[in-house]
Amino acid sequence: AVRLRVREALGAREPADAVRVQGWVRSVRSQKEVLFLHINDGSSLESLQVVADPSLEKDLTFGSAVEVQGKLVKSPHRMQNMELQAETIRVVGPCDIWSFPLKMKERHSLEYVRQFPHLRCRSNTLGALLRIRSEATAGIHSFFQDNGYVHIHTPIITSNDCEGAGELFQIETSSEEKESAEKTHFFNVPAFLTVSGQLHLEVMAGAFTHVFTFGPTFRAENSQSRRHLAEFYMVEAELSFTESLQDIMQVMEDLFKTVTSTVLSRCPHDVELFHKYIAPAQKVMRVTGKNCSPVVLFSSSCRISYSEAVEILKQAPQTFTFKPEWGCDLQTEHEKYLVKHCGEVPVFVVNYPYDLKPFYMRDNEDAPQHTVAAVDLLVPGVGELCGGSLREERLPFLKSRLQRLGLTDAYQWYLDLRKFGSVPHGGFGMGFERYLQYILGVDNIKDVIPFPRFSHSCLL
Ligand code: 4AD
Ligand code: MG
Repeated sequence: AVRLRVREALGAREPADAVRVQGWVRSVRSQKEVLFLHINDGSSLESLQVVADPSLEKDLTFGSAVEVQGKLVKSPHRMQNMELQAETIRVVGPCDIWSFPLKMKERHSLEYVRQFPHLRCRSNTLGALLRIRSEATAGIHSFFQDNGYVHIHTPIITSNDCEGAGELFQIETSSEEKESAEKTHFFNVPAFLTVSGQLHLEVMAGAFTHVFTFGPTFRAENSQSRRHLAEFYMVEAELSFTESLQDIMQVMEDLFKTVTSTVLSRCPHDVELFHKYIAPAQKVMRVTGKNCSPVVLFSSSCRISYSEAVEILKQAPQTFTFKPEWGCDLQTEHEKYLVKHCGEVPVFVVNYPYDLKPFYMRDNEDAPQHTVAAVDLLVPGVGELCGGSLREERLPFLKSRLQRLGLTDAYQWYLDLRKFGSVPHGGFGMGFERYLQYILGVDNIKDVIPFPRFSHSCLL
C-alpha cells in the first residue's frame, strides 16, 4: 500500500486501491451500519474521513494513533473530495479519553490549551498556527534570497550588548565549584545570549552589501506582557550603500507584503481559522475579515516624525499614564493612540531623540532637538513591529559617541569597520512573533510560539 499524508489523500485527483494513512483520531462516530473516523496528521487543518465497518471499532478513541489501510474513493459528500474506505485499522497508540485534556468536538480556548504545552499542538488552533509559522519562516528566507541577500548565522553567544539597554542574560557554566579568581568567566570575558545580530550583520554588510539573519534572540525583560518574550525570533536585514531611511522602510513593507502573501496562498484555511474564531475580538481583523489580504493589512501607511508624534500625543483628548514629553520613550499607550490617530494603519515613526537611542544610530546633526535617523514601525493591535536605523558610518562621530559612553575599548573592531571602506548603511529588525500576532490577530504573544516557555509550572 502507498503511504499518503492526509493532505495528499484529500487532494488526490484519482481514486486509489491500496493506500495507507497514519495519524491521530480527531473524531469517532459509530452508527449501526457504519463507523466514521476523522484522521489528522498535521499536514492540513482538514482531517481525512475514514469509513469503516463498525466491527473495526475496538480501542478507537479520540486522540489515539492509528494506521488505516484501504481504498481511497471519491467522497459522496459535497464538502470533501476524497475519503478512505478502511479495510484494516491498527491502533498504534491508544489514548485514554478520560485523562486526555483535549476533548472531541470542543473548541478549546487558547488560554485552556496553554496549560498543556506538550499536547496543545494537537489542537486545531495550534496546529494551524504552527503550519503558518513554518510557512512564514520559509517565506522570510525566500524573500531575502530572491532579493540577493546573503543569509548569515550570527552568533547566539556574544560579548556585545548591541542595544545597550542592559536586558542581557549572562552565560555561566553550571558547575557548582567556585572558579578560581583569575578565571571568573568561561570565555575569560563576560558572555551573553544575543539581544540582536545587528553588529555582526554590519560586519558582513561590509563584504556582501545585502545580508540578513533570522534567529533566536533573548531579552531579560518583563515576561508577563502580551507582547514580550524572553526568547523570541528576530528577522534582521542590513544594507550597504543606503543613505535614506526611506529605503529601509521600503524593505520593511516589501518583506511584510511578500511574506504575508506567501502565507495566505500556502495555508489559506489555517489563516481563515484565526480570522473566524480568534481575531474577531479585534476590530482591525473584523475589517479584514475572511478575505484578509496583505494589501488590506498594509494598504496604506502613515509616516510621522517622533516630534510630530509627541505633538499629536500632547493634543490628545485623553490623559496618559505616562505624560508625553519630547525626549521620553513612546509607551504602549502612546503607540496605540498614534495608530488610532492615523486611522488604524501601520505607522512609521522616524527621527528619534539622540539620547534615547543606541550608540550606533546615525546623528542627524539637527538642533535644538537633536535626533538620530531611526525608524520604528507601529501596527494596530501589536505596537512596535520593526525597529531600524541608518548606522553612524563616520569615524569621528562614532568615536566621540563611544568615548562618551566609555565603550571605545570594547568596540575597537566596530570602529575598524569605519576605517576600512566604510559606507553609508542601515537596517532593521522585525519581531517574528509580533508579525504573527498582527497578521493573525492573536492577543497574547505566548500563543504564537511552539512552546509557551516559563509561563507555567511546566518548564518544557
Ligand atoms: O527595536 P529592536 O530592539 O531593534 C534591534 O534590536 C535592532 N538592533 C534591529 C536592527 O536594526 N537590526 O528590536 C526589533 C524588534 C522589535 O521591533 C520587536 O518587534 C521585536 O524585535 N522585539 C521583541 N519581540 C518579542 N519579545 C521581545 N522581548 C522583543 N523585543 C523586541
Ligand atoms: Mg525598538
